[in-house]
Amino acid sequence: MPPSRQVKDYIRTIVDFPHEGIFFRDVTTLFSDPRGFRMAIDQMLHPYAGERIDKVVGLEARGFILGGAIAHQLSVGFVPIRKKGKLPGPTISQDYKLEYGEAVVEIHDDAIRPGEKVLIVDDLLATGGTCAAAIKLIERLKGDIVSCAFVVDLPDLGGRKVLEAMGMDVHTLCT
Ligand code: PRP
Ligand code: ADE
Repeated sequence: MPPSRQVKDYIRTIVDFPHEGIFFRDVTTLFSDPRGFRMAIDQMLHPYAGERIDKVVGLEARGFILGGAIAHQLSVGFVPIRKKGKLPGPTISQDYKLEYGEAVVEIHDDAIRPGEKVLIVDDLLATGGTCAAAIKLIERLKGDIVSCAFVVDLPDLGGRKVLEAMGMDVHTLCT
């Protein structure tokens, strides 16, 4: 019997996107496969069985797809963290550096209540800049972050160390 397909096997790499020298790990091929997508959601949920989670926070854009499915599975609310200028209500903002640029992310200022247990979800951990900005936003709203969950970790870029140095629990499905 051939070995069964793992989450990693559904992810393709696009070379030189969005800039020369970047190996872009494209999870759309994971999301578009029914077995792959279900496997990813089930495995992301696994560490949190029995844990209290009040809100799932998804990071734009691919964290919305994963985070929405995870929130639905947990029967809890979903909160988006978006790039600057996209959220319609009153927001708080945080700037951050990316592997290939700089950006600002925002959250609605009433999206998390003080003390709510929050799970942060995104597709990929690179430098950790995006998630570190999300952590700062959630902590400014006095949310209690349970963990940060990703499909892919790019260990050479050091994101896990950055998040762990901030006191975070980090779960990833593959490197
Ligand atoms: C990607 C990815 C993560 C982030 C990881 O999003 O989906 O959110 O980069 O990089 P970091 O760990 O170095 O911060 P991107 O910024 O490309 O935004 P998009 O999903 O809106 O295209
Ligand atoms: N975000 C930052 N770096 C990335 C990469 N190499 N592939 C996909 N998304 C990314």
